[in-house]
Amino acid sequence: MKALVTGGAGFIGSTLTDRLLADGHEVVVYDNFSTGRALFLAQARRHAGFHLVRGDTLDDDALRAAMRGCDIVFHLAANADVRYGTLHPRKDFEQNTVATFNVLEAMRDTGVRRIVFASTGSIYGEPRVFPTPEDAPFPVQTSLYGASKLACEGLIEAYCEGYGIQGYIFRLVSILGERYTHGHVFDFYKALRCDCTRLRVLGDGHQRKSYLYVHDCIEGMLCALARAQERINIFNLGRDDYCEVNDSVRWICEALGVQPELEYTGGPRGWVGDSPFIFLDCRKIRQLGWTPQVSIREGVLRTLAYLQAHAELLEERA
Ligand SMILES: NC(=O)c1ccc[n+]([C@@H]2O[C@H](COP(=O)([O-])OP(=O)(O)OC[C@H]3O[C@@H](n4cnc5c(N)ncnc54)[C@H](O)[C@@H]3O)[C@@H](O)[C@H]2O)c1
Repeated sequence: MKALVTGGAGFIGSTLTDRLLADGHEVVVYDNFSTGRALFLAQARRHAGFHLVRGDTLDDDALRAAMRGCDIVFHLAANADVRYGTLHPRKDFEQNTVATFNVLEAMRDTGVRRIVFASTGSIYGEPRVFPTPEDAPFPVQTSLYGASKLACEGLIEAYCEGYGIQGYIFRLVSILGERYTHGHVFDFYKALRCDCTRLRVLGDGHQRKSYLYVHDCIEGMLCALARAQERINIFNLGRDDYCEVNDSVRWICEALGVQPELEYTGGPRGWVGDSPFIFLDCRKIRQLGWTPQVSIREGVLRTLAYLQAHAELLEERA
């Protein structure tokens, strides 16, 4: 199989790329390196089946050229940070929705017939059903990120229906693990390196979140790809448990041997669009035989250990 991985230099995309190459597939990474890192592709570069195209998903011609000859597209390139949508609403729309439209148009032009899309549990807004199944009553959108991703899902479904494409949509909880460069573990570790006596926590710390380890996430995607054969395949990908942000703070502080004074910004949400409770019902994908292997606590600790070993990742974003 020859795969195009948009966002293949990013956290999840580079880990997926390594896995596809290890499984004997050919991979074209398409990335503009806005948040991706050359470091993450060091392992991939050693494979003869690896190709890198430095390009933007908003550049139709380059995208089409990179896609030619591929059997499948893993579309992971996006503005992946949910927190700042209200500061730049156009960014989510362009980088996520318009970019996905471009990917689908390039597929139509080049005859690629399968797409895997990294969607998000944020599309459920603040759901009323927990754990939240794929067919939960549809709520109000609370973030521009979630809204842009839901629009992507709609486009993918319509292209599947209209042009005979097969789609795999994965609604991910927050992902943890090696090469992680955005999210609460990153922010807490970075802050504690500067000042280990105090730590600012967004919200009241009681937000409940389900986190999934990156290799479990990729295993789930590949499991569904092999075993689910509907035209449109939609799966939640998360764990059957959750923790409070305060739990994660405690694990991180214990691992670092620090006891900061915690300063809460207050309220049940950390930012506009933060969902105080994310807990997805993952029975559908579990029925295919997938089981996550790494606990939330272990995922937090592995993420922290990786960041400690790669402090340059913290500096670059300063
Ligand atoms: N990490 C999570 O917790 C999480 C949760 C739910 C969904 N997702 C989704 O998974 C995907 C990957 O997320 P990630 O955490 O690896 O993020 P990331 O920021 O590490 O990776 C995104 C990659 O896309 C590239 N990119 C961004 N805009 C581009 C553009 N216009 N053209 C070409 N390349 C571009 C970046 O350089 C980067 O390499 C995203 O679609 C994200 O929305 C991530």
